Amino acid sequence: MWGGRFQSGPADIMREITPSIDFDKRLAGEDLAGSRAHCRMLASEGIISKEDGLAIQDGLTAVEKEIKDGTFVFKRELEDIHLNIESRLAELIGPVAGRLHTARSRNDQVVTDFRLWVRAACERADQGLATLQLALLGQAENHTDTIMPGFTHMQVAQPVTFGHHCLAYVEMFGRDRGRFEDARKRLNESPLGAAALAGTSFPIDRDATAKALGFIRPMRNSMDAISARDFALEYLAACTIAAVNLSRLAGELVQWSTPAFGFVKLSDAFTTGSSIMPQKRNPDAAELVRGKTGRVLGDFVALATVVKGLVLTYGTDLQEDKERVFDAADTLELSLAAMAAMMADLTAQPDKMRAACEAGFPTATDLADWVVRVLKKPFREAHHIAGSIVKLAEDRNVTLDKLTLADMQAVDPAITQEVFKVLSLEASVNSRMSLGGTAPARVKEQLNHWRGVLK
Ligand code: ARG
Repeated sequence: MWGGRFQSGPADIMREITPSIDFDKRLAGEDLAGSRAHCRMLASEGIISKEDGLAIQDGLTAVEKEIKDGTFVFKRELEDIHLNIESRLAELIGPVAGRLHTARSRNDQVVTDFRLWVRAACERADQGLATLQLALLGQAENHTDTIMPGFTHMQVAQPVTFGHHCLAYVEMFGRDRGRFEDARKRLNESPLGAAALAGTSFPIDRDATAKALGFIRPMRNSMDAISARDFALEYLAACTIAAVNLSRLAGELVQWSTPAFGFVKLSDAFTTGSSIMPQKRNPDAAELVRGKTGRVLGDFVALATVVKGLVLTYGTDLQEDKERVFDAADTLELSLAAMAAMMADLTAQPDKMRAACEAGFPTATDLADWVVRVLKKPFREAHHIAGSIVKLAEDRNVTLDKLTLADMQAVDPAITQEVFKVLSLEASVNSRMSLGGTAPARVKEQLNHWRGVLK
């Protein structure tokens, strides 16, 4: 493979440790695209003849067909996807295949392929997130008025609507999409033509190859072009944050679907049984989405550790970049698809949500606010009054609106019948009209905003 300088082949253990073909065969499409662009440029600059250029293009088409048909034989002794394709090209079209590698190195070749792959992965992540947003939006649309407890410290805090809760995640996933969009923008420059590390003495046209591959421009510095993997790290960081956000929604699903909460029901299609406990309906997919977060973070940490301290430019350490990115992409895309499907599948259980709300005195803040507004007391004092009334209700085992006016007046004689208007769950939710608040009118505004964005 290496020509004149080598007399004996590699040691057996080298055949074990060096090949990357088992995983980098996933770059075949990108590698072919890069080779086509490079070949066309070589021919139009007169670096190779037109006929040779055409022969190589035909050969690449034949290789592509074999890969598509599954008849291409990937060989570990040919190390990686680049040498596998080049070698097959030579079998198909003869020695002219050897002209393709003029003014190119595997170093700029691999990172060109990889940038193209990660660029497409950013687009897929964006799509997956958009699909999940749409599923959440569908739930929000049906439940702008459905009251559920909002929690802080996992204690019932204030009533909110299920629609509001779903839209909180739509916002989060919107920011995740923004991170992939940014990563895509920054990575979209072409390293092709940097050759081994220093550029080349051939009169290549890097603008032409960059343009042919959909890159905005060629990278300015050949050494940076070969060395840089921060684009992959940025993609992995975006994957990690998205996976972390996703794990929170997964956590909610797990919690919401336990019989103790019962806020949502997943259909049979999205639950699994237990081998011993016949009553069980486990939300396995949600748990797996939550569990897989660790893998994605692990992928980021692994690649960051590979790149750390690595001097310029290429070191074979960098061959370790691809599996981490492939794993994160596969994991995230699967998780997004599973979550989108579960969010579309689940049925909210408004009665259960309401019952949980009622058990927690969630309108105590409304009571305190009323005392401030109507009785003109300082909030701290009002907080104390409302607290005493909650204690009373707790002792009697009733909700706040089931206390009598006399009960209330025993705590503060100035309280009037008016107070009961703010104690219902509906009144509480409807009153949260501040920008971004949970009032159904506000939730509908958010919905309209997202409908517009996601159309
Ligand atoms: N398989 C290698 C990788 O994944 C391709 C580049 C090899 N370059 C080299 N000089 N050995 O990084």
